[in-house]
Amino acid sequence: MQWWRDAVFYRVYVPSFTDSDGDGLGDLPGIRNRLGYLELLGVDALCLSPICPSPMADHGYDVTDPRDVDRRWGSLPAFDALLTDAHAHGLRLVVDLVPRHTSEGHNWFRAALASAPGSSERARYHFRPGRGDGGAAPPNDWPSVFGGPAWTREPVSDDADGDDGRREWYLHLFSSAQPDLDWTHGEVRADLETTLRFWLERGVDGVRIDVAHGLCPPADLPDLAGDPRLDQDAVHDVHRTIRAILDGYTGRMAVGGVAVAAPERLARYVRPDELHLAVDVVLAHAPFDADGVRKVIEGCLTAVGAVGAPATWMLADHDVVRPVSRHGGGPAGLARARAMALVQLALPGAAFLYNGDELGLPDGAVPVEARRDLVWTHPEDSRDGSRVPLPWDDTLPGLGFTAGSSWLPIPDAYAALCAATQLEDTDSTLSLYRQALELRRTHAGFRGGKPEWFDGPSGCFAFRRAGTSLVCVLNASSAPVPLPAGDILLVSGPLEYGLLPPDTAAWLS
Ligand code: NOJ
Repeated sequence: MQWWRDAVFYRVYVPSFTDSDGDGLGDLPGIRNRLGYLELLGVDALCLSPICPSPMADHGYDVTDPRDVDRRWGSLPAFDALLTDAHAHGLRLVVDLVPRHTSEGHNWFRAALASAPGSSERARYHFRPGRGDGGAAPPNDWPSVFGGPAWTREPVSDDADGDDGRREWYLHLFSSAQPDLDWTHGEVRADLETTLRFWLERGVDGVRIDVAHGLCPPADLPDLAGDPRLDQDAVHDVHRTIRAILDGYTGRMAVGGVAVAAPERLARYVRPDELHLAVDVVLAHAPFDADGVRKVIEGCLTAVGAVGAPATWMLADHDVVRPVSRHGGGPAGLARARAMALVQLALPGAAFLYNGDELGLPDGAVPVEARRDLVWTHPEDSRDGSRVPLPWDDTLPGLGFTAGSSWLPIPDAYAALCAATQLEDTDSTLSLYRQALELRRTHAGFRGGKPEWFDGPSGCFAFRRAGTSLVCVLNASSAPVPLPAGDILLVSGPLEYGLLPPDTAAWLS
């Protein structure tokens, strides 16, 4: 059963979901306590942010042991308990694996630094001598995704003999605390196999592969000409190996985080013998513009359709500004975010929701001194705003997120957006999501084919799911527009004298 093809995944940013022990950080028992909420919301699967032991330079995307649980979040038994309970609530569980780099604290990297240039310990990473006088310049001109060069020179060792020129550089496409592994090394590949089997044997329903397009730079690490850092052909061999392992288990899936230049490139990751799904960030960056959004949708559907894979739609995650804020904040930002949620959930394929978007949260304003996303050098680039903990109940301390002191400050404005209050309010964003997810589960229109577009007023679009009567209309223009004929199933905001107002979407049948 290919349950993932049209599943709604809910991404849980573990540090910010629910804290059960008062240390100010979310944890696995906290998620377990919210399974009833998630079942009520109506999602199909949870996708957890990384839970493996980590020094948290990049909040879990820097792993020291891919086959354990960080004590901040719990333990392996706590994970097993969460998995069992999630299944009892009809929810599937996906874990996030970070195979392309380790933490600088991983035993492999420590051994590499403790060993000489050319040693087998270094061969699991990309160590190179520097260029120029005394090797003082990085081996090539690659920038890190987080800014600055993608290379750091190894520190001077205690037993240095004064020959500074022997100090090598190591590659890291993200922060220097996340050294890149060399995927041509047999042990690196074998270790991912062991990790996959470890989690699959525990019973997870799927794995997410972080930066799935970024594992295999060319062996000679050439200077930039195009972008040799990412999306190289060799990576597909790794994904075929991953797929072969998953195929040995029933009903399991792999989803890649894939950010590439074009939908045709993305589609290569979901060919029949590779990953099951690939999540793209394009919709999460798209402006609120009907023509632009339609273009993204059509491009993606055509590309993945050509390889027989479903599309995967994502409006937000922990790396981007939340939709309410991205679309301008305030009532208009919220209205647009709600409208885009109906567009996302009307499309064929899988959908990834980001925790808190069902509450219509804007980004939390995190004062510079409270910022925790250290890898972004410019304050305005911090990703902390979309990582602020969720507000659950305004009658409880810490809005029900924590009985302690929250790891990121929760803004006062979140008190009015608590889940408990929204559950009681039929017009709330949470109620909109609940109704949308229920319709998506029960209405035959959502099992229809690709969107068939029809012309509408400028700044708007409408599509019908092929072979059904289900229609989705988006008004991204500045004037109210008439709705097409049909019964209204759901509207993202109130109609105005029977017209669909700006910043609003509707489902009709
Ligand atoms: C993608 C993750 O979503 C992001 O948060 C992280 O910083 C990078 N991968 C590096 O692991």
